[in-house]
Amino acid sequence: MAEAVSELQAGRQRQKLRSEVVHGWYQFVLAYPDHLIADLLMRLGVGRGALVLDPFCGTGTTLVECKKLGIDSIGIDANPASVVASQVKTDWDLDPELVEELSRHLVAKVAPLSQALLIGDMPLFSNRSDLASLRAHILAQSPEGQYVVQSGMISRHWIDETPFLISVALLTEIKELRVDVRYTLLLKLALVSCIVESIANVRFGPEIYVVKGSGNHDVLRAFTAKVSTIADDLRTVSAMPEVGRNWVLEGDSRQCDVLLREAGFEQVDCVITSPPYPTEKDYTRNTRLELVYLGFVHDRESLRRIKGRMVRSHSKGIYKEDSDGKLVADLPYIKALADELRRKTAGKKYGFAKLYPRIIEEYFGGMYRHLLSLSQVLRPGGKAAYVVGEQCTYLQTFTPTGTILAQLAERPEVGFRVSDVMVWRIRQGTTGSGNAIKEEIVVIEKK
Ligand SMILES: C[S@@+](CC[C@H](N)C(=O)[O-])C[C@H]1O[C@@H](n2cnc3c(N)ncnc32)[C@H](O)[C@@H]1O
Repeated sequence: MAEAVSELQAGRQRQKLRSEVVHGWYQFVLAYPDHLIADLLMRLGVGRGALVLDPFCGTGTTLVECKKLGIDSIGIDANPASVVASQVKTDWDLDPELVEELSRHLVAKVAPLSQALLIGDMPLFSNRSDLASLRAHILAQSPEGQYVVQSGMISRHWIDETPFLISVALLTEIKELRVDVRYTLLLKLALVSCIVESIANVRFGPEIYVVKGSGNHDVLRAFTAKVSTIADDLRTVSAMPEVGRNWVLEGDSRQCDVLLREAGFEQVDCVITSPPYPTEKDYTRNTRLELVYLGFVHDRESLRRIKGRMVRSHSKGIYKEDSDGKLVADLPYIKALADELRRKTAGKKYGFAKLYPRIIEEYFGGMYRHLLSLSQVLRPGGKAAYVVGEQCTYLQTFTPTGTILAQLAERPEVGFRVSDVMVWRIRQGTTGSGNAIKEEIVVIEKK
């Protein structure tokens, strides 16, 4: 199979398929680099005919790379915005001419309003001649826009008001299109992609933060450019002779066996993934604009439901009723870590520090459940590669995430053996500890 992949790669080079093709439709700072996937597929001896699973698929990097190489794949993610991104990025059977035609139609519809807002002159809206009534008119048609305001994103400067109003008007027009929903999803993704890349004032480093006044106000120009890139990429990929098939499922990979069976899959051949780590990263905060613009978050409860499906990895996404930690709290390597954190946080007054030992337990408990569930659907002899980083996030407490995941996987009831641990990146600790922190690829094999 490995040979098959190198042939495919050679073929890919012949076609001069730029690596960023499709990946750039929507990107996320916590994604892993696309070249890693082809390398891993080759190392794991996976080629055409295999079914690859990414149980934490994020922006769909694994799926897109598999598709380019003619390999079938399934992605699962608990975040519906990531599911949309992965779905759109693997749907290459769309007509690029129609995509561009729809984009021109949308831009023509929103242009008068955009111009009026941008120049502060509203001749075309003489019956709603002040900004307040124009704003009210746009917002009245957009529950997504109303929630952006209500949730405080405007007052906290996540996005300036003018580009916000233009983007919301564009979103309303996209929703009104009477076309196949796959086209609407693509256009919505193009819009949210522009919003987080350049229109909003948010930056990622890797956490989300605001740089006031840094956003690009010319929403229509950014949207046109994004759609045109997507259409060009669709032309490129439609010339590829054989691409893999894809399925994307929304759900909790702590029960990936249930999700896969419900979708009609009994077994997968291989896993390539980067799961969450216990690093205080809140995937619903880093993708909040996407979640709101795509209509998935419209109140606290809808946000809470999405957070509830996530492996616990930060102190603002942990709940009283959580109980995954109990499954692993007595294992010596997890107990030692949690006890060290209990000692360090004993005298701390601030509330979140008290949660650190629990996050460690809940995180590894969640990943333990995921591994148990995976062992039900990965074929015997099948390999799973986890790209994970060591951490010093919590009070500089060294957390060897990859080593602990490997130990959990090797427990008799879970049923894997560790076949390889590779270091693929070393970075300096960001916590002031100065420690070199390894990012590893832990490869486990189903017995
Ligand atoms: C490190 S990111 C994956 C990034 C991905 N490799 C990429 O290239 O974009 C981890 C992902 O796990 C997802 N996630 C967290 N908990 C999950 C769960 N219980 N089930 C499925 N996905 C989950 C998050 O939404 C996030 O997209």
